[in-house]
This record gives sequence, C-alpha cells and structure tokens, in this order.
Amino acid sequence: MSEEMDQELVFGEMAAEAAESFGKGSQEGVKFAIRNCQDAFGCVSVSHQKQIAEAFGLDEKIVKAILRFMPSVKESPVEFEIVCCTGSRCAKNGSIEVIQAVRSMTGIDFNETTADGRIRLRSQNCFKQCKHGPNLMINGQYHHHMNKENAQKILEKILKQP
Ligand code: FES
Repeated sequence: MSEEMDQELVFGEMAAEAAESFGKGSQEGVKFAIRNCQDAFGCVSVSHQKQIAEAFGLDEKIVKAILRFMPSVKESPVEFEIVCCTGSRCAKNGSIEVIQAVRSMTGIDFNETTADGRIRLRSQNCFKQCKHGPNLMINGQYHHHMNKENAQKILEKILKQP
C-alpha cells in the first residue's frame, strides 16, 4: 500500500472519530477536523475534504465553504496556492489580463505546480466576491481589485522570497 493511501486511511479514521464526538453535521466538528488535518498533513487536500464531508454526512461544498473562512489552511502542501477567479463578472472587469500575468510569471497553468514545488495554480469559477473583482485568492486570502500591475507586484514578492 502506498504511503499516500496509508495516510488517507489514517485521516479517514481521524475524521470519523471527530464526527462521532461532535456529531454528524457539526460545523465545529468540521473545523476541528480541518485543523487536525492541516496539522497532520500540512494541507487539507480535495480528498481530505471529501473524507471530512463523508464522515460528517455533509456535502463537500459545505466543507469547502467552511475552509474558505479559515485563511491559514491550505488546500495543497505547496507554499503558495494561488486561485484565480475565472467567473464571467471578474472577466468583464479584466481578470483575463490578471490570469495571463499570473500564468506567465509563474510559468505554469491551472492545476500545475512549479518545478521547485513552491507554487500551485488553481482556478475557481466565481468566489461570490464579484463586486470586488477581479479577484485572486492566495493561501486562502482574497486579493481584490486586481489588475495586471498589482498582480505582477504580488507575484514578484512571492517569487523573490527565498
Ligand atoms: S466572477 Fe469573480 S468573484 Fe464572481
């Protein structure tokens, strides 16, 4: 059995125990499981979210929504997880240029990780923050009113960090 599968089983048990002590559907319990997962694995991946949702008998979307209010939690074990809004209202406000800048500066596309493993790029179709768009989310924190220039400045800082 691979180490990854092993970890998934362990986390599945952890999530089931949390659901048992907090009760099915408990949002506090979900937060507890998310924090435990972040501490144990350094991230709360999509498959971890699925396991939490299953343990608590909730839709995965609810777990994701709770996770969004926990900015210190990462969805992947990279140092910087950059999520670009690809929704139509952000696009109307200029997100296409922002996304191009992010892609060209990082040298990667959506669902890819830089060769050094530091940065992962993802997309999301609308953060429900349209009036503040174009939006980027970096490690769970929103960056509103993005344009090519301010996105480049943020990326420069990230890329310069040792
Ligand atoms: S379209 Fe970007 S937040 Fe809604």
